[in-house]
Amino acid sequence: MVKKIIIGSDHGGFNLKRHLVEFLKGQGVDVVDEGPESAESCDYPVFAAKVAQKVSREGCLGILICGTGQGMAMTANRFEGVRAAVCTNEFMARMARAHNDANVLCLGERVIGIGTAEGVVQAYLETEFEGDRHKRRIDLIETVGK
Ligand code: RB5
Repeated sequence: MVKKIIIGSDHGGFNLKRHLVEFLKGQGVDVVDEGPESAESCDYPVFAAKVAQKVSREGCLGILICGTGQGMAMTANRFEGVRAAVCTNEFMARMARAHNDANVLCLGERVIGIGTAEGVVQAYLETEFEGDRHKRRIDLIETVGK
């Protein structure tokens, strides 16, 4: 089970972030909230970068939330070693961990409800990377575009 999560959002994901911080704490997870501190309009790349940088440097897991999850994933995936995945259901979250070793979960507050989001986060926390052939494939992600 995951011990620590770095979390961040923009204004579009602020309410879901607030909810998930408490949900994660309730699961015994140490949560580092990279902001924002209010639902005032802000730019998602700023907060995606704060989380992705820590995930890249510390090798921990992160969660990013915006309106759709897409802008967060696009930004986070620019950081070395970061594999950010937008997940809208538990199956996607389980596969993103088991097959893709996703280390940043991206959620869209305007896409999924709170109950689904909790299930997606739970699946993300519980699922281990399977390694083996999937390790070869995620290593290829790093080289194919170079
Ligand atoms: C903000 O309106 C919205 O564009 C943002 O939260 C996100 O959905 C971008 O991907």
